[in-house]
Amino acid sequence: MPFEYTDVLIVGSGIAALNLATKLSEHMNVRIITKSKIENSNSMLAQGGVAAAISPSDHWENHFQDTMSAGCYHNNKAAVKTLVELGPSCIRELMNDGMTFDCDSDGNLVLGLEGAHLQNRILHAGGDSTGKALMNYLFSKLDQKVIVNENEMILDLIIHDEKCVGVTSLNNHNEITSFYANHVVLATGGCGGLYSVTSNDITITGDGIAAAYRAGAEITDMEFIQFHPTMLFKDGKSHGLISEAVRGEGALLVNDKGKYIMEGVHDLKDLAPRDIVSRRIHKEYINGNLVFLDISMIKNFRIKFPTITGICEKAGISLQEGLLPVAPGAHFLMGGIKTNLYGESTINGLYAIGEAACTGVHGANRLASNSLLEGIVFASLLAKRLISAPKQRRRPFLFAKRQRSSSGTSSLPTANEIRNLMSRYAGIERDEKGLIYAKQWIESYLNKDMVNGVLLVNASRSAYTVINMLTTSWLILSSALEREESRGGHYRIDYPVSDSRWLKRYLSRTIKKDGI
Ligand code: SIN
Repeated sequence: MPFEYTDVLIVGSGIAALNLATKLSEHMNVRIITKSKIENSNSMLAQGGVAAAISPSDHWENHFQDTMSAGCYHNNKAAVKTLVELGPSCIRELMNDGMTFDCDSDGNLVLGLEGAHLQNRILHAGGDSTGKALMNYLFSKLDQKVIVNENEMILDLIIHDEKCVGVTSLNNHNEITSFYANHVVLATGGCGGLYSVTSNDITITGDGIAAAYRAGAEITDMEFIQFHPTMLFKDGKSHGLISEAVRGEGALLVNDKGKYIMEGVHDLKDLAPRDIVSRRIHKEYINGNLVFLDISMIKNFRIKFPTITGICEKAGISLQEGLLPVAPGAHFLMGGIKTNLYGESTINGLYAIGEAACTGVHGANRLASNSLLEGIVFASLLAKRLISAPKQRRRPFLFAKRQRSSSGTSSLPTANEIRNLMSRYAGIERDEKGLIYAKQWIESYLNKDMVNGVLLVNASRSAYTVINMLTTSWLILSSALEREESRGGHYRIDYPVSDSRWLKRYLSRTIKKDGI
């Protein structure tokens, strides 16, 4: 098996990965490996912007309150304070380095409103393509010295003497390479691809989280999945995201009987926290109604939302009529690989940042536009930590041989079967019976080799993707079954209220204790 070495190996190519790489490259050698093209990430697709208490009439403490309240107070307070306090200075640093956010004709930043924010604090770039603008800015800053290997799918972490020293990876010619590094950073995103309707990039299937679990890292808060209320939904499928910024501009949710469905549900009405809005829409569909976003009151929609205009036109939906058909879709994982504020996981040498990580910053439900900020702030903290870490010598990599097993993959389910199962039993609403059924279904496919990280002879990328989907689904189902209450992105029909006995109880799993 060929092998490669760098000081730092970053797996994934979203905002956290790119921000880290740009900050580290003048201090150490850095390699990025990514499953598909470098442009494939959720960050690239992010429409809504970056939240930061940057206005003189705002204060980080207000942003703190809104983040805690949306997170149902399950949040790690220290992580929230770090995010919202460092947020404005990280944004200013980006602006000083040349990143431009949308301004009015007087050159003042335009600050938008999104769900559960009590004041306007969302910066946008390119209207509704903030993620793409930020990513293009970071691509332009990426040093030529950073090695980028596209089409490399992470298989497993390489652990030696209880330290993570690299990863094995499969390219699209079915060749396996070992990438060794002193520091291995997982920035592989969440797991939207486990669900039939999702806003996520097609590549996002929980690969980093599954690999970390197999290696023995602690995985936490997996029951908390955020469903974005408004995916453009036509002919039974999603055609892309309709940003919450559209509701921030005044759009209202209405059913096909003409009823404005958020009236009387929450004080913030259409801008209530996402879990509340998504559940309300879900209820309409269960009752046989369709749901639309009424955009008729928004002036200059095409100018304000060029990306969404393009998505609608591509799907053959007319903006003229002012009604966009919408349904909720899996959007964000609040849980993930447990880390401290510097991205350090429970395995020496292994770090996680961005959506793959769980610092606890988002609690049970992420506040809108806090995810790009998370990628910026926590990647910057990890960069500082790695730059100041004592220099390490290269190790001799004589232990590169991995066991290969001939366990069959012929009996694996399809990715779509997993998506249907998860959407039905671990979606917006869950209950004990459905969760037990789904967990047993998953367990009937997962075998010992798949969870112990043995390389399977001749297994294809799609087979490994399915194994990762099964593993990540199992982690979600196990925690969702255990948490007998409802909170944020975890709603149990059989335990419909939040129970104070569950507040601040974090459900963590490690393979040694909980492995299948
Ligand atoms: C959106 O534009 O509604 C998504 C932004 C986010 O998830 O924070």
